[in-house]
Amino acid sequence: MITVLLFCLLQLIPLPVEFTPEQGVCTADRITVKQCGRSFKRATADLEAFQKQEAYRLTIKPGSIVIEALSTEGEFRARKSIEQMRLTCSDLPCCTITDWPRFRHRGLMLDESRSFKGVEFIKKQIDAMALLKLNVLHLHLDDSAGWRIQIDSYPDLTAKTAWRIGWDYFAWEKGGYKLAAEGAPGASGGFYSKEDLKEIVAYAAQRFITVIPEIEMPGHSMEVGYAYPEVLCTTPQGRVRKGAWDLCPGSEATFKLLESVLKEVMDIFPSPLIHIGGDEATMKTWHDCPACRARMEQEGYTDVRQLQGYMIRRIEKFVRSHGRRIIGWDEILETGVPKDAVIQSWRGVSGGINASKAGHEVVMSPNTHCYYNYYQDLIRKEPAACGELVSLRFTYGYEPVAAGMDPARVRGVQANLWCEYIPTPKHAEYMLYPRLFALAETAWSPAERKEYKAFRRRALNLLEAFRKIGYNTFDMSTESDLARSGMQRFPPEGVPIIVDD
Ligand code: ACM
Ligand code: ZN
Repeated sequence: MITVLLFCLLQLIPLPVEFTPEQGVCTADRITVKQCGRSFKRATADLEAFQKQEAYRLTIKPGSIVIEALSTEGEFRARKSIEQMRLTCSDLPCCTITDWPRFRHRGLMLDESRSFKGVEFIKKQIDAMALLKLNVLHLHLDDSAGWRIQIDSYPDLTAKTAWRIGWDYFAWEKGGYKLAAEGAPGASGGFYSKEDLKEIVAYAAQRFITVIPEIEMPGHSMEVGYAYPEVLCTTPQGRVRKGAWDLCPGSEATFKLLESVLKEVMDIFPSPLIHIGGDEATMKTWHDCPACRARMEQEGYTDVRQLQGYMIRRIEKFVRSHGRRIIGWDEILETGVPKDAVIQSWRGVSGGINASKAGHEVVMSPNTHCYYNYYQDLIRKEPAACGELVSLRFTYGYEPVAAGMDPARVRGVQANLWCEYIPTPKHAEYMLYPRLFALAETAWSPAERKEYKAFRRRALNLLEAFRKIGYNTFDMSTESDLARSGMQRFPPEGVPIIVDD
């Protein structure tokens, strides 16, 4: 019996802070929430406020299931532990669990621009996130491949760019990046209405998940210029630079649009953090654009890169004046941004390290470890993907607090799912599960409790449960030796591969 109990108890992902197996299995159905006892209060007394908020104790006996929690959020996390144990075990094992999160930000980003997946898909992933105790859903709502959010003050953003010719990203690229209106021959796409998004926000909030909207700027914005050419740079002769990737930071029309969009976005999303993108601006059209040159002269700038800083700081001020904070990709650190801005490290970990040293809070989502659009196994056996190998074992080994970082500045960790190579909801799930299990454990469980071999056994079980409840997952039974070895990147020919899982 004890073997069964241990087996069942150890199924939980993320692993709890403390657990004690007890004799027997539970036959009770009813869950009782009782006032916190002294022992639980003592155990949680010195925690950070965000940890207290989510802390719970779960006492499962043969005839009773009891939750103690300091808030309804803690109670919710306890209920999800019970739900997960019921999914993976035929009997609920008797035990005591005392638990709280390591990080306050435990996130997943979905790229809805490159492939529009719809409300039902998002709600389904929110359900999975809740089961895994993740608490931040970041939606990448606009990019050159399509604008996905209803904006009343600028209706052409969706009317002209929420559809494209080419059902997937590469067909669209091959066809010359043609954006379209709904119903145009060969058009595919869609967008979220405000009602859709409010429904998603409410659904997430009921599960204690915050939805962070991302509005990209100044790069990745070809579609905005297509709908409203006044946000584009011009040539020295005054001709609009059609098809440009970046917005024009010299034009006041750019700020009028962005502020209007952000105002509507903040009306939909109560999130304290608003993502303003900031990555990969090419700045190619800024050198000789008269409006950009005038802005540089007015501000005393000598380098066009300073225009990116100008834009981000001006937008930051606007967002702050509405009682919110910005979060942006790590490029925004390079051109000056107030300390209050949260920096999301994606080009490896150096952005996060530099940002934390400069006094910013950081969210760690390095492409090396947390990009789940990268291959999870050998190129020859997997659907086309981008980037390097990010196997389950490799991503599980990620430690968000790098040497030299102040742990207090690390707000959390996040997985990103860019969707250039991921055209369907089913494919998106295939890339997420089981890797999102690893992210959840890195984000919630104490670092010293993480251990890959035991995690792999739990992941196999939870993955089977996920399949049973309708998720499309990667098949861990086909994992290659290379993926199982946890090696970083595809190694050169002849490098020995050691599997010890
Ligand atoms: C990014 O992957 N360009 C943030
Ligand atoms: Zn310009």
